[in-house]
Amino acid sequence: MKLSAELQEALNAQIGMEFHASYSYLSMAAYFEANSWDGFASWMSLQSDEERVHAMKFYTYLLDRGATVSLPAIEAPRRDFSSPLEVFEASLEQEQAVTASINRLYKIAHECDDYATVSFLKWFVDEQVEEEKAVSDMIEKLGRVGDNPDAMLLLDSLAGERDSEGEED
Ligand code: FEO
Repeated sequence: MKLSAELQEALNAQIGMEFHASYSYLSMAAYFEANSWDGFASWMSLQSDEERVHAMKFYTYLLDRGATVSLPAIEAPRRDFSSPLEVFEASLEQEQAVTASINRLYKIAHECDDYATVSFLKWFVDEQVEEEKAVSDMIEKLGRVGDNPDAMLLLDSLAGERDSEGEED
């Protein structure tokens, strides 16, 4: 079964969204590096790598389905942040936008009776639950820590223990 033109276009757009997320997390990593928050920088850098993996899953899927890969332009990411909390809040906003986009893709795949794509997208539906949770947890912890410098250093250190699966050791 051939991918519908609508689905092909939407999947290509998703590649751009995932690369933009990767780019954006890299910009957040740079902010943390520049401000000596090494643990948060490492967390963001790993997240940036994960987003590239997400983009490549869509890329490979399009090719596996015999569809055309048409990479969209990637917008420059935000780089003006004033606190770790602000960075993670921007991250949550970004993840919520990705979730909405994945849900839209899922709806289109259903409407096209393209069950291979529905199945492919299920991994992303579950992944978004994890991603939103990881960022929300960090926002909650940052809120709890407030302006306490010792607690902030501890949280930064814990963030640096995150492994490539997104878990803290
Ligand atoms: Fe690929 Fe964080 O969504």
